[in-house]
Amino acid sequence: MTYDLIIAGGTVATAADTFSCDIGVKDGRIVALGHDLGPASRVIDATGHFVLPGGIDSHVHIAQPSGPGVTMADDFASGTKSAMFGGNTTIMPFCLQEKGQTLRAALEAYHAKAEGQCLTDISFHLIVTDPTPALLGQELPALIADGYKSIKVFMTYEAMRLNDAQILATMDAARQGGAVVMVHAENEDVIRYLTDQHERTGRTAPQGHASSRPVAAEREATHRAMSLAEVVDVPVVIVHVSNGATIDEIARAKRRGQPVTAETCPQYLMLTADDLDSTGWEGAKFVCSPPPRDRAEQDACWKGLQTGVFDLFSSDHCPFRFDDTEGKKKPGGESSFRHIPNGIPGVETRLPILFSEGVMKGRIDINRFVALTATNHAKTYGLYPRKGTIAIGSDADLAIWDPETHRTIRHAAMHDGCDYTPYEGLEVKGWPVTVILRGQVMVENDHSTAEVGRGRYIAR
Ligand code: URP
Ligand code: ZN
Ligand code: ZN
Repeated sequence: MTYDLIIAGGTVATAADTFSCDIGVKDGRIVALGHDLGPASRVIDATGHFVLPGGIDSHVHIAQPSGPGVTMADDFASGTKSAMFGGNTTIMPFCLQEKGQTLRAALEAYHAKAEGQCLTDISFHLIVTDPTPALLGQELPALIADGYKSIKVFMTYEAMRLNDAQILATMDAARQGGAVVMVHAENEDVIRYLTDQHERTGRTAPQGHASSRPVAAEREATHRAMSLAEVVDVPVVIVHVSNGATIDEIARAKRRGQPVTAETCPQYLMLTADDLDSTGWEGAKFVCSPPPRDRAEQDACWKGLQTGVFDLFSSDHCPFRFDDTEGKKKPGGESSFRHIPNGIPGVETRLPILFSEGVMKGRIDINRFVALTATNHAKTYGLYPRKGTIAIGSDADLAIWDPETHRTIRHAAMHDGCDYTPYEGLEVKGWPVTVILRGQVMVENDHSTAEVGRGRYIAR
């Protein structure tokens, strides 16, 4: 056989093993692993490099309606371009149901926005904000049956939060259909109480965002979310966990045998609440929820990654431009942190940060890196083994990493639609120099000639 592509001489790593072999690709799939595979239309020499499964980022917000006058910085073209340059081959954005809207209508709108625009493969999660009897009884079961098998609910944000009864009902519909429920766990009443108190006492600068969303609000809501899931008997994913007390709650539930999956993100390893305390309005660049905490909580998150409490490392990419009245500087926003759009960009920097700070600094090994950034995402959300590993029959979604490359993260070199990165100036070692999607070379030497539309929707 003549292969379409052979990646030769690299060190291949999966979530389980590290080995030296060549990878033969035909018709977008991996068809051979071995040596001296024979002729190919193209051979890429990966000597001295790691060959890893392409990253899967299962927590990404793109073109999501974000309230009046606010526009998310990325559409599907720029968001997937940024993801691709950061070593990803699949991302999982959210489809948000706005109150009063049907989920079908929301999905149609998202599919229309994504159609023909993507440079990575994508697959949607659903966000339920309005669990009407019709949604729970008919729409959601039908959509789950159609393969939309992950549903996010919010315990915070006034426009999106569900109360416990609504969460239980949504979880029940998910259980019946065999879907998993993702929960944004923060106690909204605590946050509102503290936000009002901050405003009454004039503490309206961005730093107030961090102090009005304390660890206790996240820990309590996480415990409650897992308890509700236990009652319903549905698998639950606790997303974007920021601190040790919450990690302890999750570890206890896992020890009891509850099917809980836990996720953390780069912001909880690299940023602290002090970043929100920068002069002027600069702190708004770091406003996300839950907020970054302190060094001790960063250490706790590293430990959670090392010990296996965390299964997923995602970006929670949620980009709003900084110097923009439709972004972090929305009109009236500067009167109080309450109005700053929540979310930061990170889909392009997620993998280089964990590779450099985790693998190159010896905190995690390369196999754990692959598990946390690709394999576990595919397994949790029903894409495995088509995605997330290097095996015969899997899609040839690959990232070739040069572990010797030194880079300084600069927004000027990023590909998203935002106007800053929270990690400006961070030095990293290791970079995904070549990115391959279903056998097509998408990025080579920091350069891409791939046209939008190469990314496909992956039904689950
Ligand atoms: O601040 C954040 N995390 N924004 C994105 C939306 C969410 O909560 O995941
Ligand atoms: Zn969230
Ligand atoms: Zn999010």
